Amino acid sequence: MNHTDQKKLLTQISPGNPMHDTLKRYWLPLCLSSDLPEAGGAPTRVRALGQDYVLFRNREGKLGLLDEACTHRSASLCLGRTDGAGIRCLYHGWEYDVDGRLLDAPNVQDPRFKDRVRQPAYAVREAGEMIWGYFGKADEEPPFPKHPWFDVEPQHRVVEIIANSSNYTRIIEGLIDTTHTGSLHKDALTHLTQGSGPTPPDFGTRKRVDTAGVLAKDLAPTIEVEETDFGLRYAAISRFTENGEAKQNARVTSFVQPAGIYIHPDNIAQLVLPVDDDRSLFFMIWWDTSREIATGEAREQILKYYGIDSVAMDTYGLARETHDLTDRPNRANNWLQDREAMERGESYTGMYRFIPEDWAMNESMGRAVDSPIEHLVPADLAVARYRRQMIANAQAVARGEDPIGIAPKDNPQPANFFLSGDQDWREYFRTGEYAKQ
Ligand code: FES
Ligand SMILES: [Fe+2]
Repeated sequence: MNHTDQKKLLTQISPGNPMHDTLKRYWLPLCLSSDLPEAGGAPTRVRALGQDYVLFRNREGKLGLLDEACTHRSASLCLGRTDGAGIRCLYHGWEYDVDGRLLDAPNVQDPRFKDRVRQPAYAVREAGEMIWGYFGKADEEPPFPKHPWFDVEPQHRVVEIIANSSNYTRIIEGLIDTTHTGSLHKDALTHLTQGSGPTPPDFGTRKRVDTAGVLAKDLAPTIEVEETDFGLRYAAISRFTENGEAKQNARVTSFVQPAGIYIHPDNIAQLVLPVDDDRSLFFMIWWDTSREIATGEAREQILKYYGIDSVAMDTYGLARETHDLTDRPNRANNWLQDREAMERGESYTGMYRFIPEDWAMNESMGRAVDSPIEHLVPADLAVARYRRQMIANAQAVARGEDPIGIAPKDNPQPANFFLSGDQDWREYFRTGEYAKQ
């Protein structure tokens, strides 16, 4: 397969493409429970894998996920009424229940007509303050994922959605490419080592590993990758000497099919919803059973650290509502980069911390499907292995096989630990000893 065919297979997710059929085989995160606060309240539009859907709660509070276009003559059900048993299209008043059954068709005389027509409907669930959808065939529905934050009390959890105008692979590749941190996030690392900026959230499980110090020392860690039943587990290994002793630091990260990353500290998960070929929603989830983080200072500290506090969400167009406003970061305004702050030596990137920096890079790369041949180096090994696994997975689905990771048994637990000079990270990881560091 040549470069163009590979790019197409990996990035094109609208109907008719093999990756669309592949991503459809998983439960996907769609939005927040709070997007649909009330039974019988306003429906919301969901765009996923290049198609539009309506999501609503009927008057009993039951969720329905249907095609947006009414099966009669395609008016949008997002304009419909939900004060009855289902959702009623405004145009001619056809009403559908949460399973897409036609309950009422006021402009049709034949009483049997209602049994002949159905609005396409999909499986929908609610867990961890998020709403999830499954768009594949009913007889291929995979087990609902068991994410570790599902069982946590709401006050111990933060869930945020960040909009991005780039292909889902750009976000995943940015997350598994740990070697960009020392350059693109240099300001945050400097603040961290100097104690001059937002401090990282103090999760109960955060180990006393000086990641900022290690990352600042080593911009070219060795990347090692292993395949697992959920996707990939990989380590960025930095080697250095401390007090004359050879040491290694291994940052173990998990890529969970089809679009999830678990990064140390242990309790942050990042999931991507591929919206269409050039847009994505990024879900960040933190949880901490040892303290309440859902509101107030604790919440603000977490969001500030990652550059997604409420001021940043608005200023940098990171929220779904503000993302498309013309004065927010885009190519025409150079993603609001502040060259003067750079000249004054106040900022290395001229951008706000972490997510706004990542987004500027993702969007500056242009359309993923058009990207030219790259010059990958050993530091890009995880990116290359990710692409290879995604492509192999889509080819397997096209052959009629199940995709990987629909019912994994291995645990995608991430970790960050030190090893002595010649220890192997895989062996040490499997012992579980790292938890004591
Ligand atoms: S288009 Fe929806 S009822 Fe006619
Ligand atoms: Fe980044």
